[in-house]
Amino acid sequence: MKKDSSTECWSKLGSEWIEKAQTNDFRMYYIMPNTIGKFGDVKGEKILDLGCGEGGYSRELAKKGAIVTSIDCSEEPLEYAKKKAEEEQLEIKHYMRNSNNLYGLEDNIFDDVLSSMMIMDVEDLNGTLKEIYRVLKPGGKVFISMLHPCFKPPVEHKWFSNDGEIQVIVKDYYNPTEWNGSITGLERTVVYRHKTLSEYVKFFVKNGFILLDMDEPIPTEEQIKMSHRIEWLTKIPMYLFMELVKPKIDIYEMFG
Ligand SMILES: C[S@@+](CC[C@H](N)C(=O)[O-])C[C@H]1O[C@@H](n2cnc3c(N)ncnc32)[C@H](O)[C@@H]1O
Repeated sequence: MKKDSSTECWSKLGSEWIEKAQTNDFRMYYIMPNTIGKFGDVKGEKILDLGCGEGGYSRELAKKGAIVTSIDCSEEPLEYAKKKAEEEQLEIKHYMRNSNNLYGLEDNIFDDVLSSMMIMDVEDLNGTLKEIYRVLKPGGKVFISMLHPCFKPPVEHKWFSNDGEIQVIVKDYYNPTEWNGSITGLERTVVYRHKTLSEYVKFFVKNGFILLDMDEPIPTEEQIKMSHRIEWLTKIPMYLFMELVKPKIDIYEMFG
């Protein structure tokens, strides 16, 4: 596997991520149900879970009848994902790869690619998008969730007013673009990366994708009941969901 700063820091985080992923309220009760819900009927669909971590999304999709391939750069979560899939008798293929070099995977084989909370972590976003484009079938979709770049930029402060309402103060939307930081509750740090919203869209367009949808879903009453922190998301969308499609025709040829 080709190493870079994203694969290095996430590999070092290793097993710490497994428990964090499974106990994080935002992930479990908000990001995950919202993301899985976007897929619709996946029976028989070939899905790539890129940056699968401990494999929770892959297992959910496989239980719904999808034919899942799971990829991550970090060995320990990937081993855990493999073991869990075996225990639950789910046929999921697992590969350790940098997302910018998916060697061994053929061109045009997946109906969908899932990129859950990883796109803002990768060092090589351009290479990652090129590989996603390559392995997707024409007409195939990419489902992305990420930290919202407008409300989770490098310097951000959360404030709670007297009535308990959250306010997010953004100091400098443009800087820094890269820094070491910790994930709440974990010892090791990871490299955080920031791009502006327009930079992300330009990366998608440059790599031939069409942006189909962008979503900042307001949590449901049920989701709020699961954790009081989720109520924050009724005021500030700290997560952003996007849906891209690899067009069936070459759009560059179409527009000249
Ligand atoms: C925040 S975690 C999200 C994991 C999982 N998708 C989820 O939502 O629970 C980011 C994941 O992306 C993986 N990752 C980061 N950079 C990567 C890269 N360049 N290539 C492959 N995986 C990468 C990490 O190892 C980690 O498992």
